[in-house]
Amino acid sequence: MADLIALCDTDAVSEDAALRVEHDGQDYAVYLYEGQYYVTADLCTHGPGYMSEGFIEGCEVECPFHQGKFNFITGAPTSPPCTEALKVWKVTVQSDKVWIDPSSGTVA
Ligand code: FES
Repeated sequence: MADLIALCDTDAVSEDAALRVEHDGQDYAVYLYEGQYYVTADLCTHGPGYMSEGFIEGCEVECPFHQGKFNFITGAPTSPPCTEALKVWKVTVQSDKVWIDPSSGTVA
């Protein structure tokens, strides 16, 4: 198993918007929903929109560019024009930080 990386402090993430974190050339979007943290790729699979600049409703994020939507828990697209899932990573919370295993990234 690869080393975990700390993306951010837990209190840096709000339910209103995903937090953008850049690490080692990858842009991540960190979400808080019903007390759980989730991480997806920040860049939309459809174009140049960033999830961290999108609108959150429940467990969905709307891309600000063409208003496509994704479920940020699974990464699956839920509204066109998005058809390809976002990559998601397994999250661990420890010492008030949000951690991921960078090798755990999967695409639904
Ligand atoms: S760039 Fe995200 S919906 Fe088109």
